Amino acid sequence: MGLVEQDSNNWNLVYAENDGVMIVSFILNEQPTRVDVDPSRPLLDVLRDDLGLTGTKQGCDHEGECGACTVLLDGMAVRSCLTPVGKVAGRRVVTIEGLGEPDALHPLQQAFIELGAVQCGYCTPGMLLAAKALLDRDPHPTQERIREALAGNLCRCTGYRRIVEAVDVAAARMRGERKRPAPEDGLEGYGKPVIGGDAVRADSVDKVTGRARFVEDLKMPQMAHVRVVRSPHHHARLVALDTARAERLEGVICVLTAADIPGENGLGDYSRDEPVLTPIGETVRMRGAPVTLVVATSPERAQAGAEAVEAVYEPLPHVFEVEEALAEDAYPIYEGGNVLVSEGEAHGDLDAAFDGSDVTLETTYRTTWQEHAALEREALLGTFDEADRLTVVGGTHEPHWQQGYIAAALALDPEQVRVIMPPTGGSFGGKQDPWPFVATALAAFHARRPVRLAYSRGESFQASPKRHPYRVRYRVGARADGRLTGVRVRVDANTGGYDGHGQYIANYALTASGGPYRYQAVDAAAQSVYTNGPKAGQFRGFGTPQSIFALECTLDELAQQLGEDPLELRLKNAIHQSSISFLGYPVAESLGYREVLEAIRPRYRDFLEEAAGFNAASEARWLRKGIGFSGMWYRFGKSGSLRVEAHAGLREDGHFVVYCSAPDYGQGANTTMAQMAAETLGVPRDRVEVVNADTGHTPDSGIQGASRATYFVGGAVCRAAQRLRQEILATAAEMLDCPPSDLALHADRVAIPRPTGLSSVSLADVAAEFNRIGKSRRVPGVFDLSPLFPEESRPEYVPLFVTGAQVAEVIVDVRTGQVEVPRMAAAHDVGRAINPIDARGQIEGAVVMGMGTALMEEYIPGASAGLGDYYMPTAMSMPDIEVTLVEVPSFEGPFGAKGLGEAAIVPSAPAIINAVSRAIGTRIRSLPATPERVLARLAEDD
Ligand code: FES
Ligand code: FES
Repeated sequence: MGLVEQDSNNWNLVYAENDGVMIVSFILNEQPTRVDVDPSRPLLDVLRDDLGLTGTKQGCDHEGECGACTVLLDGMAVRSCLTPVGKVAGRRVVTIEGLGEPDALHPLQQAFIELGAVQCGYCTPGMLLAAKALLDRDPHPTQERIREALAGNLCRCTGYRRIVEAVDVAAARMRGERKRPAPEDGLEGYGKPVIGGDAVRADSVDKVTGRARFVEDLKMPQMAHVRVVRSPHHHARLVALDTARAERLEGVICVLTAADIPGENGLGDYSRDEPVLTPIGETVRMRGAPVTLVVATSPERAQAGAEAVEAVYEPLPHVFEVEEALAEDAYPIYEGGNVLVSEGEAHGDLDAAFDGSDVTLETTYRTTWQEHAALEREALLGTFDEADRLTVVGGTHEPHWQQGYIAAALALDPEQVRVIMPPTGGSFGGKQDPWPFVATALAAFHARRPVRLAYSRGESFQASPKRHPYRVRYRVGARADGRLTGVRVRVDANTGGYDGHGQYIANYALTASGGPYRYQAVDAAAQSVYTNGPKAGQFRGFGTPQSIFALECTLDELAQQLGEDPLELRLKNAIHQSSISFLGYPVAESLGYREVLEAIRPRYRDFLEEAAGFNAASEARWLRKGIGFSGMWYRFGKSGSLRVEAHAGLREDGHFVVYCSAPDYGQGANTTMAQMAAETLGVPRDRVEVVNADTGHTPDSGIQGASRATYFVGGAVCRAAQRLRQEILATAAEMLDCPPSDLALHADRVAIPRPTGLSSVSLADVAAEFNRIGKSRRVPGVFDLSPLFPEESRPEYVPLFVTGAQVAEVIVDVRTGQVEVPRMAAAHDVGRAINPIDARGQIEGAVVMGMGTALMEEYIPGASAGLGDYYMPTAMSMPDIEVTLVEVPSFEGPFGAKGLGEAAIVPSAPAIINAVSRAIGTRIRSLPATPERVLARLAEDD
């Protein structure tokens, strides 16, 4: 580590050499700065590790692929990961810490907050600085110029639209134009209703100023570093493991193998067949399967230790595709065979239904592996808290589950383990994987000191779970009037080498496969199949997008065969509120599918008309415009407990606190929970603090996946807040000597109107009274659906569904196969939009991620190594997105809300692929529709 000095007298000393180390002087955020370093070190590392400026982020492996590390060098946006620190000598560097302060934000920071351009916030510092460089040289940028300037900065959350708009608004304000409310009007959201009023996120100021501390920004004294030795083989037997050489290396603290796991060498019911570390003599079933952990005093020493571990493997045959794994002569990946689990649902006379059909259609659709590519890679900190509890800090969806997995692996009581969720740079389901938690805990447990486990981007690509690839085969029938008759569907879901929740994917695949439509007869089956591909796992929409892609494309084909309008065909067959679903039982919540279809119809008609005009008028006959439609449903809420707990508390200073476990990985759960509590209490949102996802302080609110947080945890938060309000009013009534019904709860006091004026007690005084009389200032609230679903008749998954529909406009260049998506329209039933700006942001982000699924994202086992060879949407590919929030209130959810975040990705890929297929006049049936696939399909059809 270099010696760091700031010396205002000597800043103009550019550098001096001393034994290969240089003194490099430069101006950093207007401060003369001097560092004593190897000049070839990346500026990024010097900023973060030597100077403690952790606002600058790292999202790739110093490859220049993500833009998260962008800083200004003499006013130009540069990648600090590619900039040797010696190159900045005598020059001016600006990092996010130099852009603005919380009480003096730069107009860009202000606009990012107001327009909802900040979700997880991991890309935000780099985005802001890239935008600043643009505005400094061009105060009047067009939106196209803004997109170009941001094209090298990836954002996985927002879909870019709000970021581009924020830059546009900031530029206008910097030119002195009044565009949207000006900063002096206050941040948008203030003065609006707490629920439904576009609330500004509570954590966004920290994220735009670089103050938010993600795990890799945390340092602890004596912190050690963990490197993982992973299998280079897709399938092999681990014959021998020699760690002696690694153990002898300087700085290596310990080398851990399966023999060092004191408890269960597994990940519990998350992944029933996946060891934490593969024991000698056992089989590794995917490339990247972990066999050893090396803990050392520095990342470099840990890496050297990992390279010194000698592992001997006996390679075995491997397969990646479900067809190969299901072949009669397939090599068994597990003794029990290559099918993990099967599910089926059948009712009605399918033969009769097909016999009575005017049209029957058979299709096969395929999807591929998709990488989460959250901008923040997997990173965790293991340590011991003040109570000497083994503590792991990391992004997760279920801190209490992780606590249980760690305790089981280490043979500890769960009370001896604590899990804390810090600010997290995106997840999309990927950070539900418990492996990094258990590994970090194991390392800290043996090293008896703080440890950090941080994946490289390449390691994240190799070892993190992916979206399950599907093969989906349909036979579907319909009468000439467009009424569906029967459906037969078979889904093969590729779970990769390990379970990784693949045990549940078949059920999700099956449930989604009929959609929100009515059939006379159904025969649906799905199975989860082992291969030696990467382990699959949760990914936004878990199991649903792949089935809906195949279904909605099949329905589009059917509509074409029948000469029916695709939207009207859906409407004719859409189930009503009280209809029996294709699963054979009614849905449990309000269902707004018909309202969604009606809501999007006008835009769909406009899109069709404009496309017809374009195709008729275009002189460039090689450019074909197509419009695609897709509906969808998504089962939100997941399996598991129907009873969820949260707490609400009154602090001694009269502020409120919500305690819950609804991890916020960028989707805005902290803000939503604060809004719902504030609305229930009847106080402004800024009176409510949220303590979230820390097993040491918050109750177990269950797994937060499947868009469950707002509905379930929000329900519990509202009940806790309601109870706390009652307790406060009852106590204040005693203090003021009046009935509670006479009292009103205000921001900081409880008041009663009297003829002589307002009489009141402050909430701080009420809190003191709670203390005096021995009343707890923290009360629980429980949201419990179990009475509605008695155990004896409850399906494994409660049928809570949300619906939506999207329309895509594409332009296909039939000479090159290139597809452009200029516009999308999306309508989603959200029940009640708690924070409309966030709801729209979630939909926009999901649409753009779905565009990646449709057109470019494809993880190839053994080949995809990082962001450099995995193509994702950038600001340049961002379509215009028109969002309609449809509000059909839920029966049970808080304020009528339903789940949303995952559902919005579901119809994007089928809408786009239907548009491409209609534009080119032939069907694309495999994802993604890369230019090569489009051209190949066109050639086949010639
Ligand atoms: Fe520099 Fe990714 S960390 S571009
Ligand atoms: Fe851009 Fe999360 S907000 S990556």
